[in-house]
Amino acid sequence: MSDDAVTLMKQQVGKAAADRVQSGTIVGLGTGSTTAYAIQYIGERLQKGELKDIKGIPTSFQASVLAKKYGIPLTSLDEVDRIDVAIDGADEVDPQKQLIKGGGAAHTREKIVDSLAEQFIVVVDSSKLVDKLGLGFLLPVEVIPMAMTPVMRAIEGLGGEPTLRMGVKKAGPVVTDEGNLVIDVKFANGIENPADLEKTLNNIPGVLENGLFVDTADVILVGEVKDGQPSV
Ligand code: 5RP
Repeated sequence: MSDDAVTLMKQQVGKAAADRVQSGTIVGLGTGSTTAYAIQYIGERLQKGELKDIKGIPTSFQASVLAKKYGIPLTSLDEVDRIDVAIDGADEVDPQKQLIKGGGAAHTREKIVDSLAEQFIVVVDSSKLVDKLGLGFLLPVEVIPMAMTPVMRAIEGLGGEPTLRMGVKKAGPVVTDEGNLVIDVKFANGIENPADLEKTLNNIPGVLENGLFVDTADVILVGEVKDGQPSV
């Protein structure tokens, strides 16, 4: 599939999610290139007066920058008692609506916001749909820096192959918004039991959060190309 087709799918699905946002609601704003379109379209609906009295809760520095750019007022979890809807992307989605997230190293804040939302809408293009998690995309694990080596050993003990995520041009490791590192883990046969693995990984001392989102997603909006045209 061409890059242009993927971009069109992301735009369509971002718009479809933004169209579901209602006035007077608190909206969790996810991270990534697909959610970026949703944030843009929410901002456009606000500017047109179609939407009123929205407040966003960003899941990353990137999301807060975009929200400000598109004129979405922001709030925080200390100021509100609910999140009505969260919109966020994913790296893999299985048939049970379980997800791998964290391609943008934002999965810790994303899991907090997305799991608090009354409705969590996932926005993906069709390339993200898989039969089994972990065969294509490595599982991100956010780790406190001083625990990197013991956490990697513990992950090897679970049968995973851990790699420290490096930044652009491999000049240094990726550092999360929380100042931590990301270890990407390969499981040769994929992930058999996402619910168990999510808990097991988070039980390793030094692990802050992993990218398995189990029983969190309510709605999956999928961008597709049908008859040469993008659709949702
Ligand atoms: C960031 C994420 C993203 O939502 C995920 O990586 C999907 O991103 P994109 O829409 O750019 O493909 O989990 O931590």
